[in-house]
Amino acid sequence: CHIEQWDSDDPVPRSELLKKVAGIQGLYCLLTETIDAEVLDAAGSSLRVVSTMSVGYDHVSLEELKKRGIRLGYTPDVLTEAAAELTVALLLATSRRLLEAVDEAKSGGWGSWKPLWMCGYGLTGSTVGILGLGRIGKAVATRLKPFGVKKFLYTNSAVRPEMAAAIPAEFVPLEELARCSDFIIVCCALTPETKGICNSRMFSQMKDTAIFINTSRGGVVNQDDLYQALANGRIAAAGLDVTVPEPLPTDHPLFKLKNCVILPHIASATWSTRNAMAVLAANNLLAGLRGDAMEKEVFL
Ligand code: DGY
Repeated sequence: CHIEQWDSDDPVPRSELLKKVAGIQGLYCLLTETIDAEVLDAAGSSLRVVSTMSVGYDHVSLEELKKRGIRLGYTPDVLTEAAAELTVALLLATSRRLLEAVDEAKSGGWGSWKPLWMCGYGLTGSTVGILGLGRIGKAVATRLKPFGVKKFLYTNSAVRPEMAAAIPAEFVPLEELARCSDFIIVCCALTPETKGICNSRMFSQMKDTAIFINTSRGGVVNQDDLYQALANGRIAAAGLDVTVPEPLPTDHPLFKLKNCVILPHIASATWSTRNAMAVLAANNLLAGLRGDAMEKEVFL
């Protein structure tokens, strides 16, 4: 192959992308690139395959690919463990107030031992609700089980008996998930159906002691509603690995809240996982260019 490569860890500027895609057959992209009609038109009719180094593909217009007969590769499975691990880490950091506690220890807030100081919420005997029980949701639940969770609930666009049986988890409507869970963990993909699904209605149904965790996509959450819920004590705390926009501006009100832990979209960031994602995306692209079956393809 002749390869045009953007040789930097920073995203390729849009103007550069639009210039360099002209006449290509295959496009290897990241979740930072919006692959829409403009990019596909700039590439022209030679483009046959798009391969994204991500499991999420909400940055790619499926409709535009389909219209043009372009295939799409993506990277599920290889990041499941890393994403689940980070989700658990974020949950514990949020529920046990780890960042706040470290700040207090460093800044002189640590006085004598006090019975009620820095109390948070534990997993033992809790009910955990998973919004989107897929590969990652299941892997999160499996890791949380040994912490003594009493009950797992899940909600999905469809019932998933085979996934749920392994945990086990009970299917409930979103409203019941919100009402009954001590921890809500968002693991669903961003689609037109899930956009903004975590909103004031959902937060108002949650327990005021509940912890909300999102490691999927920021667009699933109405951030203004989340801010209100956290600032007013409607829910106890939130841990977010994903936001809208990314990066979240440093002066964003969510950063001012002690009960909101924000990470910079690092769920899959282990060396071995990122390497596996990179290799899988490259193999998908090459298979697509050869006209072979891709290891992981989104069928449009
Ligand atoms: C993905 O792959 O979609 C994650 O958000 C980053 O690894």
